Amino acid sequence: MFLETAKVVEHCHFIEPGAEIFHLLTLSAPKIASSAKPGQFVMVRVGAAILDPLLRRPFSIFYQGKDTISLLYKVIGKGTNLMTTWEPGDKISVLGPLGKGFKIFSSEPQWLVAGGAGIAPLCFLGSRLREKKVSFKTLWGLRYKIAPALMGVIQQKLGDLIIYTENGSLGYQGLVTEGVKRLRQEEKPEGIYACGPLPMLKALFRWTKEEGIAMQVSLEANMACGVGACLGCVIETKEGYKKVCRQGPVFNAEEIKWEK
Ligand SMILES: Cc1cc2nc3c(=O)[nH]c(=O)nc-3n(C[C@H](O)[C@H](O)[C@H](O)COP(=O)(O)OP(=O)(O)OC[C@H]3O[C@@H](n4cnc5c(N)ncnc54)[C@H](O)[C@@H]3O)c2cc1C
Ligand code: FES
Repeated sequence: MFLETAKVVEHCHFIEPGAEIFHLLTLSAPKIASSAKPGQFVMVRVGAAILDPLLRRPFSIFYQGKDTISLLYKVIGKGTNLMTTWEPGDKISVLGPLGKGFKIFSSEPQWLVAGGAGIAPLCFLGSRLREKKVSFKTLWGLRYKIAPALMGVIQQKLGDLIIYTENGSLGYQGLVTEGVKRLRQEEKPEGIYACGPLPMLKALFRWTKEEGIAMQVSLEANMACGVGACLGCVIETKEGYKKVCRQGPVFNAEEIKWEK
């Protein structure tokens, strides 16, 4: 784990009428970049100059360059709003890489299933799977279409994706959880890696249990410290409470007490 003063290298804003808005921030952070593993995250100080908001914000590593890390994010509140104002050359305090990442399943095919910004850790993982020549498919559920330029960036990392949008503006209309059932008619995955909203993960877990398919999930939780010191991020598992920041964010889905 390193505390680095990272420099903003590039900041792309994918904004288009009728499309979901995403921002892609690339930071020069050589130490973090050289040690990051798929599924790990960083804590970013968002209020560097004004100390407000005080707490760092967690973001998955979307991809790893030689000396850089990229974060793909959506605006949720004050912190992410402030982040959108950052420009190339700005210096940002970043702590990471943090947490435990994905363990690559030993057999194929494998599926990546993402909802919204949950594509971020799966993109890093997918590029690693491609390097290792592991056969996988990616399903991504969104509310609306996304800018073609962002789709290009993601396809470059992952190859072709199967997209589901709630309003049908891109790919198939419907939920990604319907997509997995449809794809299951063609093949049975040996393992699924998933990240997205809790209702999506719960529905996927119920289905994978029925189908007897192993799944790893990357969970989100409110995080104050990101390093195991504040207990702000605990979740209930079958082995008691665990810290998402230290023992996760990636867990075997079987471990989690989903109905709590
Ligand atoms: C391990 C981890 C990895 C993450 N990776 C990414 C990523 O790659 N890309 C990304 O866009 N986001 C990611 N997130 C979520 C991101 O950390 C939050 O969106 C961010 O902290 C919000 O900060 P804010 O100051 O803008 O909003 P806040 O002011 O902190 O929150 C505003 C409101 O939104 C609610 N809120 C906070 N987070 C979320 C959320 N995730 N979804 C819905 N409502 C929320 C809060 O409860 C509050 O009511 C990740 C979270 C975790 C724990
Ligand atoms: S965020 Fe503090 S213990 Fe996990």
